[in-house]
Amino acid sequence: MKFKLFLLIAGIAILSNCSVQEKKEGTDNSIEQKVDSLLSIMTLEEKIGQMNQYSGTWDVTGPAPEEGDNKRRYELIASGQVGSMLNVLYAESTREMQKIAVEKSRLGIPLIFGHDVIHGFRTMFPVPLGESASWDMEAIERSARIAAIEAAAAGQHWTFAPMVDIARDARWGRIMEGAGEDTYLGSKIAVARVKGFQGDDLSANNTIAACAKHFAAYGFVEAGRDYNTVDLSENTLRNVILPPFKAASDAGVVTFMNSFNEIGGIPSTGNKHLQRDILKGEWGFNGFVVSDWGSIGEMIAHGAAADKIEASKIAVKAGSDMDMESDAYVNSLKELVEKGEIDEALIDDAARRILRVKFMLGLFDDPYKYCDEAREKELLGNAEHMAAARDVAKKSIVLLKNEKQLLPLKKDIKKLAVIGPMADEKDTPLGNWRSQAQAYSAVSLLEGIKNTVSENTQVLYTEGYNLNLNKERSFTSEVIKNNDRSGFAKAKQIAASADIVILAVGEDAFQSGEARSQTDIGLPGLQHEFIKEIYKANKNIVMVLMNGRPLTIAWEAENIPTIVEAWQLGSEAGNAIADVLFGEYNPSGKLPISFPRTLGQVPIYYNYKSTGRPNFGDNSLFTSRYTDEVNTPLFPFGHGLSYTTFEYKNLQLSSQKLGWNETLKISVDVKNTGKYDGEEVIQLYIRDLVGSVTRPVKELKGFEKTLIKKGETKTISFELTKDDLAFFNIDEEFTAEPGKFQVFVGTSSSDVITDEFELIKN
Ligand code: NOJ
Repeated sequence: MKFKLFLLIAGIAILSNCSVQEKKEGTDNSIEQKVDSLLSIMTLEEKIGQMNQYSGTWDVTGPAPEEGDNKRRYELIASGQVGSMLNVLYAESTREMQKIAVEKSRLGIPLIFGHDVIHGFRTMFPVPLGESASWDMEAIERSARIAAIEAAAAGQHWTFAPMVDIARDARWGRIMEGAGEDTYLGSKIAVARVKGFQGDDLSANNTIAACAKHFAAYGFVEAGRDYNTVDLSENTLRNVILPPFKAASDAGVVTFMNSFNEIGGIPSTGNKHLQRDILKGEWGFNGFVVSDWGSIGEMIAHGAAADKIEASKIAVKAGSDMDMESDAYVNSLKELVEKGEIDEALIDDAARRILRVKFMLGLFDDPYKYCDEAREKELLGNAEHMAAARDVAKKSIVLLKNEKQLLPLKKDIKKLAVIGPMADEKDTPLGNWRSQAQAYSAVSLLEGIKNTVSENTQVLYTEGYNLNLNKERSFTSEVIKNNDRSGFAKAKQIAASADIVILAVGEDAFQSGEARSQTDIGLPGLQHEFIKEIYKANKNIVMVLMNGRPLTIAWEAENIPTIVEAWQLGSEAGNAIADVLFGEYNPSGKLPISFPRTLGQVPIYYNYKSTGRPNFGDNSLFTSRYTDEVNTPLFPFGHGLSYTTFEYKNLQLSSQKLGWNETLKISVDVKNTGKYDGEEVIQLYIRDLVGSVTRPVKELKGFEKTLIKKGETKTISFELTKDDLAFFNIDEEFTAEPGKFQVFVGTSSSDVITDEFELIKN
């Protein structure tokens, strides 16, 4: 009743299809009018209520809410003092809670339900870092689309994804949650994910609001330790960290989340420069910013505020619109306004932004439209979604090495040994941030292999070494320590008797993710020793890696003939890996992140700066290098092999000069010179040789993933204009600078052919 009454008061007409982009540009006047009329009848307390978000207990994604608090929370919902809940899951529960907001509160404003739908809801896709290795924007968009379809059927309106933090330090556990180290690739992936979650029509019942997070620089925490301090230049912020956020904003993402870290002494949550000046000012973002979990309250621990009242004042002034789980705004803002310490216009602005998104989602049209048990039953984990998960998973696999061409395997191979702690793992492939995947539900590699091989193949399995994974490990940060070598002997015996050994090793799902930083990024436990033992028994090893971060595997890279990077690939992991191992699918993934040789090289990334004393791989003493290790990574950004080979020839530029308003055309012939049809990711890099601020030695500026048939040559073309060459320069302007550029095209960041051109300002 209340809801209908409210509709009358506010004079609200039902919303109909209007694209996200139109809304972002503020052309949807009808929404603005509705927001205004609603705001005009809201009390200060009700407006502040919209800015308040609590967690339910269906999932725990932060320091757990205190027991016994729920009753108070329900009372606050009924009195209009809660605008959003996170971690309240499924159609039935969200409907029940929505009813309280809609029927019991004075104005009946619906809640917006949020949840971390990071790489699937029930059907699990590869962890985001792994999926990024596909360099396949359609596949990435489809995975986000399916995640949204499932989540929306289970009552969710909003996901806290994509995480678009650029990260260069594999000690940081959350590296698994992003798109890797590169700004350009990260920006493209950010857009694909936003499009996938939000679709074309945010008010449809199978699209959800996305959230670009964590704003900003969370991926740059010192020493890779989660929640740690960040101190970096405006130059790096603008040129490296912000572009994926800007791309998400331009693509119409309707929410942002700020980050736990401080930047140069100012916690992001209280950072006006980021939130008001850049995001809402320069970029014209008209959605809302949610704090991270408790991050308003955490400004006290940072030493940036004395208490939650002061923290609220700083955060709201800085542009944090919604308080996730700090319980700060709801208890402080009214008093702050009444005392004249903050202007009520700030509250109006935050409430307006939140209501705008609720209108865009169509929640005022029908607050229960996402709560549909029948759709939930039909859609969660259905066969079509699982097939898509397998497809994206196989595209995400990176063939790191295939020295003796051990792969692809024949399906009728006689004796296959399948060994290792990850060989029959049904849980680890689901990865961290697995939302509502059922534990132990992934197809294991052993299962995938058995589903694929011929009847005549003998598959010999033993685990050999166990990681002792505790079933409750998602709630602990335990370190794997198992010194039990008792399975080694049997594993060696099996390995010795087989034609080929598939050796599956890696990291547990919960070793990466939030709060899972590590000082050692080698293979955990005794796996390295185990691999060496198996190698003594049989050298024909295909090592399959399952991991959420780059690992240091220098010995393995030198000695093991074939290495397959299989990340944590989700529900269909085992089938997808088998597709690649047996040649059903020719691997096409490329690393979105560099793999270091040793931890001492971290942070390591391909687009580093030259320095005044660059080292060119020699032993010159007074150069920027290590005395005990080369500078180059073990496997570079963009690296990934295929069962076929590609030859790059005829790099051609339409001109050696690029006029200020002209377009440079770059083309290259890529020939498939091997025995199989295969997809290749052709990568275009540039180097701006002289800048008013120094520029990286290489920067990705384009890529194309394409199928090239055996024997075929394809001409691939790229275009560059001055806008592609722009950067945040010494005058704090985003512009290109005239001068010489190198251009590189190739199969990875370190295997390229090159030419030069000059940008001319005429
Ligand atoms: C904290 C994490 O940093 C953030 O990414 C997540 O969305 C929230 N918790 C909610 O679970």
